[in-house]
Parts: sequence; structure tokens; C-alpha cells
Amino acid sequence: MNNSRELILAPMVRVGTLPMRLLALDYGADRVYTEELIDWKILRSVRKHNDILNTTDFIDQTDGTIVFRTCQRERQKVVLQLGTSDADRALKAGKMVEDDVASIDINMGCPKEFSVKGGMGVALLQNLDKAVIILKSLVDNLKIPVSCKIRIMPTKEETLKTVEKLVSTGIHMIAIHGRTKDERPQHFVHTDIIKYVASNTKIPVIANGGSKEIESHADIDKFREATGCSKIMLARAAEWNCSIFRRRGLLALDTVIVEYLKLAVDYDNSPSNTKYCIQNMLRELQDTPRGKQFLECQTMKQICSIWNLDDYCELKQTEYQAKGIQGRWEVCPETLGPPNKKPKIQKLEGAVEMKMRFIRSVYRNDTDLPKSVLHSWAGKKGLKLPKYDTRQEEKLFRTIVMFDGQCYASTFWEKNKKFAEQGGALVCLCSLGLMNEGDLVSNGSLLRS
Ligand code: FNR
Repeated sequence: MNNSRELILAPMVRVGTLPMRLLALDYGADRVYTEELIDWKILRSVRKHNDILNTTDFIDQTDGTIVFRTCQRERQKVVLQLGTSDADRALKAGKMVEDDVASIDINMGCPKEFSVKGGMGVALLQNLDKAVIILKSLVDNLKIPVSCKIRIMPTKEETLKTVEKLVSTGIHMIAIHGRTKDERPQHFVHTDIIKYVASNTKIPVIANGGSKEIESHADIDKFREATGCSKIMLARAAEWNCSIFRRRGLLALDTVIVEYLKLAVDYDNSPSNTKYCIQNMLRELQDTPRGKQFLECQTMKQICSIWNLDDYCELKQTEYQAKGIQGRWEVCPETLGPPNKKPKIQKLEGAVEMKMRFIRSVYRNDTDLPKSVLHSWAGKKGLKLPKYDTRQEEKLFRTIVMFDGQCYASTFWEKNKKFAEQGGALVCLCSLGLMNEGDLVSNGSLLRS
């Protein structure tokens, strides 16, 4: 039995994306879980090799977002966690990723309404027959190992019974979060139940749930002792300071943020995901002047500038753009891959076009919004108000603004109609000289072609 000591990055929604997983590996994690990925999101995606980043990307075909990005460096250590309630869907999703990951895990511990209502997460522990069918189908048909992550039941005997049933499917490991489905992170973690189950189970048990008391390797050792498990999985302790995996001790938060940011830039992570992860590291430091400045950031370059990495970011982004990288901002219906039909996009003859995206938080008051500014200017000049014509393709929107005998449009496809209208109005304001082009570049609205 593989009962060697391991430190494992736990699955964490939005936190467990590629830069964080690589950072955890850099610091010494032995295994890293992805965030939970819902089966249909994988099924809806298309697998592409990204030659510029040297990554494998699973791209959502309806809006161009990256569902899962991975690379060779983590290939032997990454566990893809699936959220599922259906054996067929889980197997199809598993087949799509089995050449790119080390193993597959099924989430049977999430107590959130979204999961439980869909029959996923902890709902599977209440429907063990279904859980067994899902695991067995994966174990029998995938070429990579399969595991699951559960919560404890109210007693140690019930927990062991549940685990025995799951183990009978042939899974190679099981992670146990030492709280029941009704307990929350602040509740005491039942190390005794994990210990009882681990000592009576023939496959390795990964102990989870100790972050509240873990700030050092000595604390990890205590948790290992209390649970009798050689494999320890950390979520919050790693989310707060990923260098918890370092055998030589924690690093200062600023150092961790700089190292995280470099990876985020290197792997073209989205600014919103990068910001979310750093927010979770900063926690109460968000109230400091620098924290507040950070919260205002919209672009990677702005975030990077707070940790003096703006030159690094600029250099990498320029390099990637020169190589023709496709980011979310490059996605338009024409670039979405099969099997969707190719939509016909009318060429906008004579229209003023710019690649402009609307970033809501740039505008403090409603009266500052591009549409409001354009309308009030039109009113002052006695011109007819602009007309907006929005087109939708798949889940993307683009608006043509007709104003004073001219059409204006952004080539950036927005995720909703309101944003698309504001984006079109921005193009109009910029080309009329009513908004400064330099400001729009620096706040991330005007994108390079
Ligand atoms: C989680 N957790 C979690 N669990 C899971 O199986 N799949 C997931 O996608 C997530 N997402 C997630 C996001 C965030 C931000 C947190 C903090 C937690 C639960 C997590 O893996 C773990 O079981 C608990 O946090 C308890 O472990 P710690 O935090 O005490 O180490």
C-alpha cells in the first residue's frame, strides 16, 4: 500500500487554478488537486494545446473561458476533481482528461446548495448506491487511478461503513474531511474519527480539515499524529500562505504573492482569478492603504505594479501578444471551435471599430458611465440620442452604436448586453475625443489589436 508521507493541496474552487497548483509544487507539495470542475463544464469544452504557453487548455465552447489549464510540469501530480451526479457524464469527462492528469477524484463532500440540489457533493453520501456506480464505472474504464473526497458521518462506525462501501469499488485513495455535512470550518475537526477509519481501511486515507490549527510543519506533524494518516491535505492554510508546504518554513506573504504573481503572468491567468487568490492571501490586509489600492486594480499590470512586477508583466504580455496569444478578450464567435455552427457575422462597413471592453468598477457613479456621458453630451449639443443595436452569438454580445450619422462598435465580445452597449459607447466617446485614449489604455479598457 502506498502509505508514504505526502502533503497535498486540497481542491478549492477558484483557488486551485494552475498558478496556485504550480506554486504549491514549487514549495514542496507532493500532490495538487484542481478546483472542483463540474462534469458538464468539461463536456462542453474543447481540448487545445496552447503552443505559446505550452499548456493544455480545455476551453468552454460557449464563451471562450478556460475551464481547465494544465501543463507537463504537474502532469504526474495533478488530481482533477470532478463534481458529478451521473456515471455516464463522469466517465465521458474522465475520458476527456485522462491523458492530461495523474488521477481523478470525485467530490462527495461539498455541502453547498448548488451541489446538493444537483445530486452532487455530499448528496452522494446520502445516495451511496449511486456513488458506488459512479466510482466503479470510472475505476473500470479509465486508465488512471480514481479517488473520492468525503466528509465524516456522525459516528466513527457509520463513517467506516461508508468508506468500506466506497473502497469496494477499487478506488486507490480516499480523502476524509473530518467534519460532518452540517459542520462548518469553524467547528472542531474530528481527528479521532479519521484515525479510526484510517486504521481500519486497506487503502491510504488522506486526512483533511486541520487548517485552523496549522501554521507550521510542527502543526502538520501534530495533525498527522492525531489522525494517524501519513497523507495530509491542506486547503485554507495553503490558500492563506501557500509556502506552508515548504519544509524550511513559511515565507513572508509578500514573497509568496510575488512568486504567485509571476506564475499567474507566465500562465496568462485571468486578472479576476488572480485578484481573487491574492485577496484570499491578504485577508485583513485588504484594509491597509496598499490593500485598498490593490482592490481598485482591474488588469494584471495594475496588480503587478503593487508588487513591482509591472515591467515583468509588460514584458511577458508583449511577448505573448507578439506570438499571437488568444486570451478571453480575443474570443469571438468566429474563433469558437466545433461542434457549434459557424455564425455569420456581418462586416461593419464604415464603422469605427476599436477593441474596447467595459470594466464596471472603473466608473464610480452612474453618471460617469459611457452611455450616460454620451447621452448628456448629445443632449447638450442638441443631437439625436444614440441608437444601440446588439447582436448575440452563443453567449457573447456586441453592440453597434449609431450616433450622428456614424456607426461605432467594439470588436471585444462582452458577456452580456449591458456591457456590450457600454463598450460601444466607449468606442464612440473615444473616437469623438470625449474620453482620453491613454486613460482607457491604462485602465485596461482599450486593448491592443
Ligand atoms: C474548499 N473546499 C472544497 N472541497 C472540495 O472537495 N472541492 C472544492 O472545490 C472545494 N472548494 C473550496 C474552496 C475554498 C475557498 C475553501 C476554503 C474550501 C473544502 C476544502 O477542500 C477542505 O475540505 C476544507 O477547507 C477543510 O480543510 P482545511 O481548510 O481545514 O485544510
